[in-house]
Amino acid sequence: MTEADLLFRGARLLTLAPLNEERPRSGAAAGDVGAIDDGWLASRDGIVVASGRGESWQHVDLVTDAPSIDVEGRVVMPGFVDPHTHLCYAGQRWDEFTARRSGADYLAMLERGGGIHATVRATRETADADLLALLRRRLSREVALGTTTIEIKSGYGLEADEELRQLRIIASLAKSAPIDVAVTYLALHALPTRYSDDRRAFLREATSTVSAVAREGLAESVDAFVEKGVFDTEEVRPLAKAARDAGLALTLHADQLNDVGATAFAARMKARSADHVANASADGLRALARAGIPAVLLPGSAFFVGYAAPDAKRFLAADVPVAIATDHNPGTSPLSGMPTAIALAVVLCGLTPHEAIVAATINAAHALRRGERTGALVKGRRTDVVVLDTDDERELAYRLGAPPVRDVYAAGRRVAGV
Ligand code: NIG
Ligand code: FE
Repeated sequence: MTEADLLFRGARLLTLAPLNEERPRSGAAAGDVGAIDDGWLASRDGIVVASGRGESWQHVDLVTDAPSIDVEGRVVMPGFVDPHTHLCYAGQRWDEFTARRSGADYLAMLERGGGIHATVRATRETADADLLALLRRRLSREVALGTTTIEIKSGYGLEADEELRQLRIIASLAKSAPIDVAVTYLALHALPTRYSDDRRAFLREATSTVSAVAREGLAESVDAFVEKGVFDTEEVRPLAKAARDAGLALTLHADQLNDVGATAFAARMKARSADHVANASADGLRALARAGIPAVLLPGSAFFVGYAAPDAKRFLAADVPVAIATDHNPGTSPLSGMPTAIALAVVLCGLTPHEAIVAATINAAHALRRGERTGALVKGRRTDVVVLDTDDERELAYRLGAPPVRDVYAAGRRVAGV
């Protein structure tokens, strides 16, 4: 008899169970959430041990005092995976936001020393303990909205010593966090002002910092902003090689505002994911599909900056697996919570609610190379669970501003809820 220390029953259970093999869903499977009505889910030591339908949960051997929760028809689904955030920053950019609403251009502001540079200045001036406190507050807001795995990037330090400081702060958050945190070294985000006459020196510095990051175990992947007037693919190539040599994954801000060939480049470099991709070419899409690499769509930044959101239908038609993320950051996407990302992905990118749920769970887990750890409620995965306050998961895409998230469990432990 299966032993369990936690049981959910009477659920509309979304398993997101793998169909044939362990790979992100695309094509006809892109919207398959694996629903079981009147389902149940049993967990032991934070890992799913069994699931089923109807009254068969009675065969599960619950240890003494184990919660046996009748969710009364509510949806029980995998916790959200947010595979792209810039949660570590200080200060705000309201001025930039209002200026942009009156026509100012995002990249032009960056070039003039504003934008990302404004956040770099504010973050540098913030003491470790204060930055950690900001991070903790932001993380608990995400957890309350159902996120049980999150990626957090550095990138507001730019210069090596400051990037390392921010990575150490993120890594210390990761150690004590109630959920799983994947840390990324965003090595090339903008050219620091001090290096404006010596671009090559900065590229060398950032590239050589990768091995230090790996040695100290500060991050599991490396990122760069590949964009017109920011960094080009040739400048990023040595960084990609350094990541590979150090055993770190690669992920890229690719073709967000302009097509610079970054999506195909990400595929060639065997990146973990290609993110933004709002202006990716058909070639780029074909390259991702061939390599089975997820495109991480970030509708929050399209919404907030005001450019055309990536058209999910193009990606689905090309058989590219699609994931979504909040891209939370103070410049382009001050958005909290995956439910809003789901709603925006449906309204702006054209995903169906079920495709958006796949994109926010199992496909996002694959984008973080955690497709066998979380993102689905099947035997052997972490018991990362969201209980929705509804019996229809499509409400996630609909109830904008008041997401129907009731309880959140990470590795079987209740981490947020009513
Ligand atoms: O994902 N565009 C590059 N990086 C971030 C924004 C950073 C910022 O403006 O502070 C993004 O959109
Ligand atoms: Fe980003």
